[in-house]
Amino acid sequence: MADPESGPTNAASAGDGEAGLDEVRIAVAGAGLIGLRHIEEIGRNPGTRLSAIVDPGPGAAAIAAREGVPRHETLEACLAADRPDGVVLATPNRLHVPQGLACIAAGLPVLIEKPLAHDLAAGERLVAAAEEAGARVLVGHHRLHSPILRRAVEAVRSGFLGRIVGVIGSAAFYKPDGYFEGPNAWRREPGGGPLLINMIHEIGNLRAMVGEIAAVQATASNAVRGFSIEDTVAMTLRFANGALGTFLLSDTAAAARSWEHTARENDAYPTYPDEDAYTILGTEGSLAVPTFRLKRYARPEARSWFEPFACDTLAVERADPLAEQIAHFAAVIRGDAVPLVSARDGLQNLRVVDAIAQAARTGGTVEISSA
Ligand SMILES: NC(=O)c1ccc[n+]([C@@H]2O[C@H](COP(=O)([O-])OP(=O)(O)OC[C@H]3O[C@@H](n4cnc5c(N)ncnc54)[C@H](O)[C@@H]3O)[C@@H](O)[C@H]2O)c1
Repeated sequence: MADPESGPTNAASAGDGEAGLDEVRIAVAGAGLIGLRHIEEIGRNPGTRLSAIVDPGPGAAAIAAREGVPRHETLEACLAADRPDGVVLATPNRLHVPQGLACIAAGLPVLIEKPLAHDLAAGERLVAAAEEAGARVLVGHHRLHSPILRRAVEAVRSGFLGRIVGVIGSAAFYKPDGYFEGPNAWRREPGGGPLLINMIHEIGNLRAMVGEIAAVQATASNAVRGFSIEDTVAMTLRFANGALGTFLLSDTAAAARSWEHTARENDAYPTYPDEDAYTILGTEGSLAVPTFRLKRYARPEARSWFEPFACDTLAVERADPLAEQIAHFAAVIRGDAVPLVSARDGLQNLRVVDAIAQAARTGGTVEISSA
């Protein structure tokens, strides 16, 4: 993963870069939930302009008319009609690889929404094609563009927590019944559960904060909703640097212990400043994220559970990571930055999630390669 600490430099949106462009023209494929957010951010950023919408769905023509851009039913038709400077793929998971390969073949920088692919083999094909072509592929793990995450990474790397021993994490929230009904019924089936939809974001965060994940164990349950996919998963993680982690994921818990409810980065969710998503545990101190409550011994030379902590709260700035991500994508298109989350990073996040699912099925420990 490119260094999230260098985000502000990577996210630079000014300058002409090698492409010599003032304003980059971006086509968005998939004008659904997240595609509309990308369209909004492209409109807000003075360095980017929407060039077209690709979406065969019934509502897409009206969205394109509102935005004053052409609507195409296929990506091929879009690229044939008017070549953009870059493409955002916010389409259903199964389309990420074929459409990503089409962008790579056309020599276009592409932002592919997470997950990189619908399965590991397809993801590996995409990474191979991207690396062979030297393509500029950014994967939409937008939290990596979050100043909060950057601050947590900086705190860990600064060493003031000492050696990282472990991390306690959670993503516990309640998804409403309508989330799984009617046209959303696919969310009851494999691929629609919280492991692939939500946990993949957490894996991106955990890898950035603590390091590569080398092995996992997991227990999954569907006891509450009774769908064929998981609604709750308990995991243990072993990091390559020796740290250990526990993580509880649930989309049936009336709780606010999640990034969504604590990061204050998405207005769609109420937020709870008394909750945290993670606690990072070091030999010299522990840090709760995103409240940034820090505990270190008042007398560091006398570390002991009988000794009082000096409690502090670290300052942190906030910004919308989706806006930062579009600014960064514009810089990638101009040649001013390398993708903060590469296709290979996206694949690694998918590998870890796949390993968790496998561990839950088999009840064993699953080792994870990073090849
Ligand atoms: N980064 C995030 O936080 C985040 C959040 C939500 C979704 N996502 C990801 O974004 C992707 C889209 O999710 P969503 O919730 O917006 O789904 P959605 O169903 O709301 O939107 C998908 C859109 O793609 C369109 N589409 C279908 N076939 C197409 C084709 N061949 N070409 C172009 N468009 C086509 C559909 O008509 C629809 O408008 C998924 O991969 C999802 O995992 C990421």
